[in-house]
Amino acid sequence: MAEELKQIDALVEAALAEIATVSNSDELEKFRIKYLGTKGAVKDLMALLGKVPREQKPVLGQRVNAAKEQITAAFEARRESLSNRQAAASDAVDVTEPGRPLQLGNRHLLMKVVDELTELFGRMGFSIASGPEVEDEFHNFIALNIPESHPARDPLDNFYLTGNAGSGKREGSGFRVQGSGNTESADVPSSPSSLIPEPRTLNPPRLLRTQTSTVQIRVMETQKPPIRVVIPGRVYRPDTTDQTHLPMFHQLEALVVDRDVTMVDLKSTITQFVHAYFGPQTKMRFRPSFFPFTEPSAEVDIWFEDRNKWIELGGCGMVHPNVFKNVGIDPETHTGWAFGLGIERIAMRKYGIGDIRYFVENDIRFLRQF
Ligand code: FA5
Repeated sequence: MAEELKQIDALVEAALAEIATVSNSDELEKFRIKYLGTKGAVKDLMALLGKVPREQKPVLGQRVNAAKEQITAAFEARRESLSNRQAAASDAVDVTEPGRPLQLGNRHLLMKVVDELTELFGRMGFSIASGPEVEDEFHNFIALNIPESHPARDPLDNFYLTGNAGSGKREGSGFRVQGSGNTESADVPSSPSSLIPEPRTLNPPRLLRTQTSTVQIRVMETQKPPIRVVIPGRVYRPDTTDQTHLPMFHQLEALVVDRDVTMVDLKSTITQFVHAYFGPQTKMRFRPSFFPFTEPSAEVDIWFEDRNKWIELGGCGMVHPNVFKNVGIDPETHTGWAFGLGIERIAMRKYGIGDIRYFVENDIRFLRQF
């Protein structure tokens, strides 16, 4: 039996020497097949049992089992150490690896359209103006000739800020009209000097502006004619969301004030803009309309080829004499025109966007296309 025992020891010795040299999973697998596989060297040791007398078989059997356990344990230990080494390697920083390219964001499509519009109107001689999104009732309504009885001032149609009473109450407006008689509407002050802050009104109502026309007033309060400005900005209305309406959207306002400005200038400027921006074949139309701050007033529609229908882009008109009076410009010597267009609708027509809600859903697949 001495011979067989020697053979067993030799195999264990060879296996232990070999496992020490195994350095990857391929070599480990080869080792397993060679020693521990169904046709491996350990299995072959079983054949030794047939070569010894019956009484020696148990001892030899135990030695074969011990050899198998020893080789299996060495194999498991190696497997464990290799997988630890692999995990450590994957955590390590490879300083030679080239850097990963950074994912660059891009400007929102609407902001690109604002840039395109202001650039285009810049070439037509307009400068850019802006104003606050939180407004008082003077700039959002009163100075724009929107009387307190007008439905546009209904608190349900506006986002008033918390703590403010909302429109409809004269004492809440923060302004009172001094004197009377020289305005068409008793609610409309005749000139800025007549706008005296209500002494007991500490907290005049404020609201999110519903239109960029508020900035017309702010511009005329601070600039003397000739005036030629465009005003891109965000506005807010509690409108029900659908394919063409959002509660927060953007408008592009324009205001021109000078001597002898006419409706012809207004119509030709809008027509020039539509043809320059959307293409010379673009179908558009003016429809008579009403706005308290312009007279006459019109609405501009543009034909949406993909929907096969007219969609309203915005309103326009000649600045109402009351508006001029409210900012101290003499309507006898000056005339003016203004328009306010929906920027989302402009972008939808320009870039073939079927639903206005894409602009606010922040879906990266949509945003990346532009
Ligand atoms: C106005 O806001 C006037 N201030 C426009 C104006 C300016 C008239 C200067 C005369 C002189 P209107 O409420 O129609 O008008 O809105 C203008 C445009 O804003 C609409 O034609 C539409 O393009 C866009 N708009 C209005 N409401 C929404 C909304 N909820 N979501 C998206 N766009 C809207």
